[in-house]
Amino acid sequence: MMHHVILIFHLLAATIWVGGHLFLAIRILPEALKKKDASILKNFKSKFEPVGMPSLLVLFVTGILMAYHYDVTFTKWFSFSNAIEKVISIKLILLFTTILMAACAETLIFPKLKSERMFPAEFFIITVTIIAVTMLILGSLIRIGGL
Ligand code: HEM
Repeated sequence: MMHHVILIFHLLAATIWVGGHLFLAIRILPEALKKKDASILKNFKSKFEPVGMPSLLVLFVTGILMAYHYDVTFTKWFSFSNAIEKVISIKLILLFTTILMAACAETLIFPKLKSERMFPAEFFIITVTIIAVTMLILGSLIRIGGL
């Protein structure tokens, strides 16, 4: 029962994180590129961040709690020794990559973002969205035994 409650919070956070990024990649980014207007991306970022970042934190905390239920404890991370642990370790690597990219976007990409040169932001948005969808697909594999 407890696992199921944690899973619901995990799925709610995944909905916000993955859904937000898909909306950004499919709707907001093409509009910003078409209108050559970086402020469209900046506006979305300022609105999404207050819900997106907490949802990433919820994904991390609930993911680790569920990993412990599968007996994938801290000492077993990144050993790639069984099917479930493999999925969890890959998810952790992708999560750390996402956090690193978010920090880069915050400090390097967005402060210098110009309407004439949106490629760096475009690259980051597409990459983080692909990672988010990959995390979702990996999550769905756990109930069928992992990788
Ligand atoms: C962007 C980040 C993430 C997304 C979008 C995501 C998404 C998902 C999804 C969609 C499921 C499927 C649940 C089901 O089959 O009912 C899942 C399950 C799971 N996720 Fe994640 N997840 C993320 C991050 C993490 C992290 C960082 C961890 C571990 C450290 C983790 C651990 C798990 C575990 C253990 C399950 C299996 C739950 C179960 O079916 O009992 N997830 N995740």
